[in-house]
Amino acid sequence: MIDLRSDTVTKPTAEMREAMAAAEVGDDVFGEDPTVNDLQRRAAERLGKEAALFVPTGTMGNQIAIACHTKRGDEVVCESRSHILDYEMAGMSLLSGVMPRAVPGRDGGRLAWEDVRAAIRPQTTYNARTGLVALENTHNLAGGTVLPLEAMREIADGAHDLGLPVHLDGARVFNAAAALGCDVAEVVAPVDSVMFCLSKGLSAPVGSMVAGTREFIEKAWLVRKTFGGGMRQVGVLAAAGIVALEKMTTRLAEDHANARALATALAGIPGIVLDPESVQTNIVIFELEDGIRDAPSLVAAIREEGILAIAFGGRKIRLVTHNDVSRADCLAAADAISAAVLNR
Ligand SMILES: Cc1ncc(COP(=O)(O)O)c(C=O)c1O
Repeated sequence: MIDLRSDTVTKPTAEMREAMAAAEVGDDVFGEDPTVNDLQRRAAERLGKEAALFVPTGTMGNQIAIACHTKRGDEVVCESRSHILDYEMAGMSLLSGVMPRAVPGRDGGRLAWEDVRAAIRPQTTYNARTGLVALENTHNLAGGTVLPLEAMREIADGAHDLGLPVHLDGARVFNAAAALGCDVAEVVAPVDSVMFCLSKGLSAPVGSMVAGTREFIEKAWLVRKTFGGGMRQVGVLAAAGIVALEKMTTRLAEDHANARALATALAGIPGIVLDPESVQTNIVIFELEDGIRDAPSLVAAIREEGILAIAFGGRKIRLVTHNDVSRADCLAAADAISAAVLNR
């Protein structure tokens, strides 16, 4: 199977499995797992933040950050197709008692400060107060698009001037840094907190990191426990995370080049709507013109040929490149899609 459904499908590398077997462990709820502590130190240093916390999932990381930054009844300004709004089970409302205020991004889901500013509200006697601005970089549902550094700085500076914290859902922030050609610390410098996933393009089997000030992470530690995320001898997972952080970030440009090659091949197929230039990282989302078979039927047809993809609604399909697919796999996927589209 050539699995292009997501970069979450990546399997741990041989080096990760060795590191996991050899990991020194302790009880992390007591803060005594040396491998977890090492991962947290390295992640904080890499991001240029004071401290970091290992969490089981990206969703928990985002939800911990929201809980730390807001109080009940607040609004969280976020992009309309952002993961925290669309794919986290209404977690912000359920867990933190806050409400999303969705702002449509412009070209490629990129938020603009003017639009964010217009959505920020002071507390009055009749409306909720804005408690947090949340960004996503890269933006998954918009097709792995990158929010440029200037836009991030402008939004964060504007929010800070109004006394508001900014959280970054940086599930794929290393992809953003690779696409921007800069250090990841530069990407996250403007924000107060960031979550990134070890378990996506970086190939670790489990885990995400939340980073921010020491004070924020102390609070996040307590909230993680409240959410049921206190783990014990979890150094076996953190060991894979260290390999992910140290060895896997420098190869992401290869996934981006594969995604671009895949998009270029797909764009040449009649009935497929896709601008390969819009593919900046490892995510390719294309649309099927009316008159072509629908997305679920196309996904079912290519599955028969050993290619896995995800349908978004009736007419869109997402493909994600990663460490476990090669350039040849991507081109084979494009051929299978071409055959499935042309057979209608
Ligand atoms: C942008 C973004 N944020 C957060 C997450 C959540 O990560 P997890 O699946 O580890 O909860 C994902 C997962 O796909 C994501 O794409």
